[in-house]
Amino acid sequence: MASLLITHIGTLVGLHPKEQLMLRGPEMSHLPTLEDAWLLCENGLISDFGTMDALPGKLPNDLETLSAEGGYVLPSWCDSHSHIVFAAPREEEFVMKIAGKSYEEIAAAGGGILNSAAKMQQATEEALFETAAIRLNDMIQQGTAALEIKSGYGLSVGSELKMLRVIRRLKESFPIPIKASFLAAHAFPIAYKNNHQGYISQIIDEMLPQISAEGLADYMDVFCETGFFSVEETDQLLTAAAKYGLKPKIHANQLSVSGGVQIGVKHQAISVDHLEATDEAAIAALSNGNTIATLLPSCSFYLGIPFANARALIQANAPVALASDYNPGSTPSGNMNFVLSLGCIKLKMLPEEAINACTLNGAAAMELSRETGSITKGKKANLIITRPISSLAFLPYSFGQSQIKTIIINGKIR
Ligand code: NIG
Ligand code: FE
Repeated sequence: MASLLITHIGTLVGLHPKEQLMLRGPEMSHLPTLEDAWLLCENGLISDFGTMDALPGKLPNDLETLSAEGGYVLPSWCDSHSHIVFAAPREEEFVMKIAGKSYEEIAAAGGGILNSAAKMQQATEEALFETAAIRLNDMIQQGTAALEIKSGYGLSVGSELKMLRVIRRLKESFPIPIKASFLAAHAFPIAYKNNHQGYISQIIDEMLPQISAEGLADYMDVFCETGFFSVEETDQLLTAAAKYGLKPKIHANQLSVSGGVQIGVKHQAISVDHLEATDEAAIAALSNGNTIATLLPSCSFYLGIPFANARALIQANAPVALASDYNPGSTPSGNMNFVLSLGCIKLKMLPEEAINACTLNGAAAMELSRETGSITKGKKANLIITRPISSLAFLPYSFGQSQIKTIIINGKIR
């Protein structure tokens, strides 16, 4: 494998030590940098870096050189929450929303997750793979190089397994780490509207054993929300998943204070995600803990719902990550550059905090921070090279405009 030397890096960003696997509280604004730098990639990994006045004398033979021309070099985005496997977009609901209908009203009228589930029944694995691959390629070009993908539009044994097999194929076909979360508990299928325990039994007795036997999921997700899965039902599902070694990463407090945060913490969730409706008790539950608060500001932006209280979470010493939530209903975008901007503009995170939340803490929310998420020797050479911008703040400041010049994946120019 050829080696790559990147020279003339204006600023190398995110040089966290390898022991630093997650950031919280005041650590979140700490983003170590190196000016006027070079970085060497060997065997797909970051092998060394330093300042231009001290370029290494001995370099590998098969070396390719790339000048960053004064641009910034950052670790690639680590997007820990997405639903990119879906059968069709939902522009019809977008138009209903413009006309004044809320997300809950659209769902109650047969739209929402059930709309996507109906379309999922018909979709072939091939078509699902092809459309998800297009979305994933776009995301990679926008700087993402680690991704979590959820099932949850299947809502039946066959369709949930179909979605998870598509995710497995994406894992096998793309050069970035991908984690799969099992989200059959996303909504109750119409047939089980008045028989919640019937569907929960199907998840526990039929889906979990098969998924575990085929090794199709890394995590268990539940949409813990009024009108979806209650705290008791979430508790029951997370307890069952634990028997198969599936740790929770759950949807909590999106539309209302659901108690999802506390039940997630009780089950030692890797992350509790959304938190748009968070109260003091939820913040207290996350304070000084290891469960990551994953905030999804593009979802708030698109649905017009409140933005999560990132400042209170950082103040409470909770680890905060940012992710896209890319899905056809509440967030039809997987652009982490926009998430970064919203993190600063709407969540009032400092650029350094928001970058850490999109990189190291995002990696931690997928248990990947030993291998990616910072500029650290031995980690994956997954990098973003920017144009020669005036400062780091220019990145989130210039919202909606890409400052990315080159993407490096596993030490190779993409
Ligand atoms: O994270 N809220 C639950 N799940 C998705 C949206 C699902 C959909 O509308 O298709 C979310 O926002
Ligand atoms: Fe989601």
